[in-house]
Amino acid sequence: MTVAELPRKPGGNSAKGKEQRANIFATWRRDALGRLVQRRSAEAALLAAQSFAAPGKSLHPGFSPAALLTGTGGSSSSRSKAKEDAPLPLYAVRWHQSSPADRKPEDGAGEKPPAVLKLTSAPLAEGDLQRALEAARAGAQIVAAALPTPGAFCSQEDEVSLGWRFVQLIQRLLEDGVGARLLVVCPAAATGALVAGASKAVAMEDSSLKIQRAFVPLQCLQRLDELVPRLCALSSAHKDETDLWIRDAGFRGLPFVPRLERMPAGSAKASRLPAHGLDGEPAKLLLTGATGGLGKAVVSWLIKEQGFQPEQLLLLRRMGSSKLEGDLARCTVVEAAKVDSTSVLQESLLQVRGVTGILHLAGVLDDGIVGGMTEDRMRKVAQPKCGMLVALLNAAKELQWPLQWTVGFSSTSSLFGYAGQVNYCAANALLDQLAVFSSEGARPEGDRAPCRFITVNWGPWGEAGMAQ
Ligand SMILES: NC(=O)c1ccc[n+]([C@@H]2O[C@H](COP(=O)([O-])OP(=O)(O)OC[C@H]3O[C@@H](n4cnc5c(N)ncnc54)[C@H](OP(=O)(O)O)[C@@H]3O)[C@@H](O)[C@H]2O)c1
Repeated sequence: MTVAELPRKPGGNSAKGKEQRANIFATWRRDALGRLVQRRSAEAALLAAQSFAAPGKSLHPGFSPAALLTGTGGSSSSRSKAKEDAPLPLYAVRWHQSSPADRKPEDGAGEKPPAVLKLTSAPLAEGDLQRALEAARAGAQIVAAALPTPGAFCSQEDEVSLGWRFVQLIQRLLEDGVGARLLVVCPAAATGALVAGASKAVAMEDSSLKIQRAFVPLQCLQRLDELVPRLCALSSAHKDETDLWIRDAGFRGLPFVPRLERMPAGSAKASRLPAHGLDGEPAKLLLTGATGGLGKAVVSWLIKEQGFQPEQLLLLRRMGSSKLEGDLARCTVVEAAKVDSTSVLQESLLQVRGVTGILHLAGVLDDGIVGGMTEDRMRKVAQPKCGMLVALLNAAKELQWPLQWTVGFSSTSSLFGYAGQVNYCAANALLDQLAVFSSEGARPEGDRAPCRFITVNWGPWGEAGMAQ
């Protein structure tokens, strides 16, 4: 498997890619740590970044945190060594407008009417579930739409409930033993992301599930019933796509579809993280999950390669977590009693001023097949990934930090879907969607990152961390 043979489409295409996927992961696993820290062989340097390209626009690697990805930073001597290395292939997820030629003739004639299931934070009604099962048995499509709670964007509880309702639907379909075609409709926003992320994982677990996602402007969800025929027609006209982004609330124009694209080589200007804030003060970076395998490597890279002083690095961690050693023991540390609470974080970080960048690495795994998934297991994995991130971004706003950027550490699992990781794919999808949809003007203020937000979908690191 070479990088040239990789699928161009992210999005998970049911279980058929399993064999190929194993090869991809074997490739990614090699030297991942070296990519970041020592810039070893570029051969296997494959990962994807989201939000490096505005929809329909070309890629722009010139943004400074690209240093994290291109690994071309460091001292002048290490830079000249880097020149000898082959450029690191870095992929970005780029959303293209589909072309008229991509459209398939709509074969909706004779189609049975779909069953529409509205997913909210409230429990699923048995009658609705039965209608969905009947539709699946009859070969009709199920339209499962994630309807966020108005005014409560990215509330951890609501997001987990939404994701869990979707998993419950899948569990019932699998128990029933019928295959199903699902069109998962989600807002083009961070909210509802756990539904979209979960839908990628379940498609990898059971090939009888054919799943497509449609991201629509939030306001469209208020008139979902009226839009279902148009959504189904679009789904049928783009049946080879796993993801469609309908950007116009009036459904004008063609939908956007994601593609993995190799990024141009990083520019020398982008080789280092910004050393100063906009006010000229030395930059201050906050890291979550810094005590983990990747976190330690990132801290060491920031100090040894990027020239940060340990006191410029602030580690936010759980109260009473593991003992700090080495580079980590020299950094500033803030411990919080409850990391997914805005008010607790605000209180804990009250004395902290001038944070210019955030690296969000906190995360935990609790893998298991979809049949054995529970709401608690969804919550456990979402808590550090989503709850902590949202609480931290909210606290940053309240504390008026001069934040310029945030990088979320996500995974290829949520990019392609991964069997046995429905909760992990769901949680990482919030980072992915915050990056993709953060620049959209139409979303409510509360659902927007207060700074440039980039997500990196790392492949499994062989040398350190949770994937070992
Ligand atoms: N390892 C990989 O190959 C890989 C691949 C793709 C993506 N990623 C992502 O990269 C990030 C770092 O991965 P890693 O391998 O370094 O993970 P790790 O070794 O398991 O460390 C994760 C860190 O997250 C924090 N954490 C764990 N549970 C938490 C909770 N409930 N609340 C708050 N913080 C919690 C811990 O920090 P404290 O104890 O200090 O609070 C822990 O040190 C993760 O988000 C992961 O999803 C990793």
